[in-house]
Parts: sequence; structure tokens; C-alpha cells
Amino acid sequence: MQTDSSFTFVLFGGTGDLSMRKILPALYEAHRAGMLAPGGKIFAVARHIEGREQYLQWVNEHVRAHVSNAQFTEDAWRTFLDRIEFVAIDLGKAEDFVLLRDAVADLPGTRVFYLATGPSLFVPICHALASVGLNQNSRIVLEKPLGYDLRSSNAINDAVGEIFAEEQIYRIDHYLGKEPVQNLLALRFGNALFEPLWRRDWVESIQITIAEELGVEARGDFYDNTGALRDMVQNHLLQLLSIVAMEPPHSMDSDSVRDEKLRVLRALKPIDPRDISRVAVRGQYHAGVIRGASVPAYANESGVRPESTTETFVAVKAEIENWRWAGVPFFLRTGKRLADRIAEIVVNFRPVPHSALGSSALRPGANRLVIRLQPNETIRLYCLAKKPGEGMNLSSVHLDLAFDQFFREGQMEAYQRLLLDVINGRLALFVRRDEQEAAWRWVEPILNEWAASGTKPKPYAAGTWGPAAASAMLAQHDTCWLEEEN
Ligand code: BG6
Repeated sequence: MQTDSSFTFVLFGGTGDLSMRKILPALYEAHRAGMLAPGGKIFAVARHIEGREQYLQWVNEHVRAHVSNAQFTEDAWRTFLDRIEFVAIDLGKAEDFVLLRDAVADLPGTRVFYLATGPSLFVPICHALASVGLNQNSRIVLEKPLGYDLRSSNAINDAVGEIFAEEQIYRIDHYLGKEPVQNLLALRFGNALFEPLWRRDWVESIQITIAEELGVEARGDFYDNTGALRDMVQNHLLQLLSIVAMEPPHSMDSDSVRDEKLRVLRALKPIDPRDISRVAVRGQYHAGVIRGASVPAYANESGVRPESTTETFVAVKAEIENWRWAGVPFFLRTGKRLADRIAEIVVNFRPVPHSALGSSALRPGANRLVIRLQPNETIRLYCLAKKPGEGMNLSSVHLDLAFDQFFREGQMEAYQRLLLDVINGRLALFVRRDEQEAAWRWVEPILNEWAASGTKPKPYAAGTWGPAAASAMLAQHDTCWLEEEN
């Protein structure tokens, strides 16, 4: 489907890492697939570039490599480049924004400003846009991280909120654009089967893992001032948790969905600082081996302080104080340089209350739903079945839904979906300010306590599943991480 109207897409940070890897490739793919209205224009804003020709050269040299060969055609690439204009803007020069206004103000259709820049530039850019009237009839997209804590995030939101109304603000959390996350909504609210079971009476615990094999790559400097709790838990993991735990919304319109997610985030049980060492684990990777290749310790990565105590791994237990979920632990975990790249949600249902079939019916490995978000998107329902042959011996089996076997095409990258949603004015997959605040409120006591007590991250070797303390935390609840069962 093509975008509803023509559009002007102004990309600040046009030569940044995100533009190169995600935003421009996603726009290209939407263009190739015929999903962008003809006439829609992309205006890139970047420093250290002299003009359009030089910018297109940069796009050819840097962006092309991030478009998959299967999606590349010379013709589509050429016509995509035709959509791109370049504007040289020095943020300190008010007259440069006058030039931007002259270039875009009279163009038809939707106007989007995408701030793929560091958060320190969000407010100055918004002020400059307002000074030339460009905050009217436009949308603004803010990338994470939006602040460093509740106070700094509020400061940005307050300042941006004076210039743009909340319905004009699109805060990106790219996990919400992933196809399997959408599917989670379809699974929960399109089937009557799971909903009666989706509650404390039947669910024993839930695990949500986003594990990465990659380290901090070229972002050591940024990451060292951020850490895994801010980089992944405050946003992606809590967003996934809110989708897993939310009540059925009355419709899929943006505020119905976001209202329900907000209720979950507000119902998160505040963590008592005295409990933090029991319910949260910090880790930092040391040198190790991943897929046969040696990788350095975090402290030796470029941009990282050698004495850094920033965490590259977090495991934390969350609880939701409402009727549906009271007492059910949600174990959240994320880390860099782990043993595998996996994002998954594991719903452990309670075992049968009494087994007439012997103790094997009480074993783990059954009564479980595993939703694999990446790679190889699948939903697996684990049950017990009788092993063929004599006697009644049970074995764990699974019902499998592998999405690529059902739907051979049409998968859309997260950024592509989200960019099309911005252009089409669909807000459901963007984070509302109140959600963001609720997430910071829950995360902040952990950050504060770690800082106040000087809690050092526990070491783990790269290529493992993180510090042993993360396993010990689950053992307190008579459970273990999924991979530990095998
Ligand atoms: C980003 C984080 O938001 O998400 C990165 O800043 C992380 O540190 C990335 O690597 C993970 O996203 P994905 O889509 O590769 O799982």
C-alpha cells in the first residue's frame, strides 16, 4: 500500500550511523516496493557535506552496502536517489533554517522531521524549526536515547512539548516495529485460545531475553555513558513486557493500545533499594571467544574507559501489581557479547496439579510457549506426548509455527514499517510520553542504588550467557533460563 499522501521527509543527522544503516535503507526499500507516494522528497541535513552531489556520493558509498542484494535494482536505486535533496545547515545559524523553510514550506503533503542526532540537539533543532514556523503541520521523530534519566528525559519532553503537540511527536522504539512483536498482539487478541490462560492462575513465570553477540562496535563512547539498563531495559524490554502483559485494548487505535501498555508500566512493583542485589544483576564482559573468534574485554573496546564499571549485561526480576499478574515473576535479561543472538519471550505455564502419568508429567520442558522474535521468527507450544512403544513414557514435543513457511514474502523491516507509520500518521507503535516516564520511574531506583552503593558489574566471559548470579536469581524461584534446561 502506498503512503496516504505525498510527503517531505527531513532527515537531521543525514550522515550518521543510523541514517546509513537503518533509515535510508528502509526508505529505499519502501520506495522499491512502491510504498512511497510519487513526488515524496527526502531532504538530508548533514555537516561536513558541501552539496547534493557530494551527499549522493556518500549515499552510494555508504548506504548501498546496507541494502540487501535481493532488494537492489539499479532502476529503483536511481529513482530513489532522485528523491533526495540536500540542505546544508549550521545549527548555530538562524538563516540556515530560513533556507530550509523556503525549500520545504510550500511542498504538498505530510512533513516529517526525523532527528537522527544525539539527544543534546533535539531541543535546539526544535527551537530553530519553530523560529521559522516549521513546527506547524508537521511531525517530529525522536530517536532513543531520550535522556539519561527521568529528569533529563522530562526536560527534553517539556521543551519539545512546548513546540510540538503530543500527537505530532513520534518517539521511536524500533522493537515495536518488528513483525513478531506485531504478531504477539495477533496471537493474544486474535485467538480465544490463549487469553483464558494468560494470567496468574495458569502462568508460573515469564522470561524476556534480548541477547546479542555483538559488542559495542563503534559506539564505545556513547555506550560507556549509558549501559545496558538504559540502552535496552528502560525501552525495548519494558515495551515487550507491556505488550505481553497488557489487557486486551478495546480497539487497535493508538491511544487504546498505549493506554493499556501504560497501565502495565504503572503497575510495575517499585523495587525496594534494599532488595536490589537480590532482584537485579549487573555484568560486564571480559575477553572470550564467540563462534571461534577471540574478542576483547569490554574495558579494552575503543571509546571505553579502561576502568569502566558500566554494565553490558542486566538481568532483573519485575513484578506487576494487578489482578492478572500479582506474584508472577517476569525475568528480563539482556547483554552484549553473549553466547547467541536471540530475542525471545518464554511463557512458563504451571505444571499439572497431579500427575496420574508419573513424575515425567511434572518435568519442565512442557506447558510452555516460546515466542522467538529473532532470528527465525517462530512460536512454539511445548507439550508432553507419549513416546511410541510400550509403557507410558512422556516426552516433550512441540507444535511449531514458523512464520517464513507460512508467509514466504512480505516481511517488513522494523524501520520501514515505522517510517511508513510516521508518514501515514499512525501513532500506535510509538512511545507516548507517559509510558516513557513510567518506564524511567521503575528503572531509576536501580540505577540510583547501583551508583550509591558502588555496585561493580560481575564479570562474565564473552561468548557465555552472563554472570552466574543471573542463574542464581532464577534458582531462588525454582526455575532456570530456557537454555539452561537443554
Ligand atoms: C538499540 C541499542 O536500541 O538496539 C543497541 O542501542 C542494540 O545497543 C540494538 O544493539 C539491538 O537491536 P536489534 O534490532 O539488533 O536487536
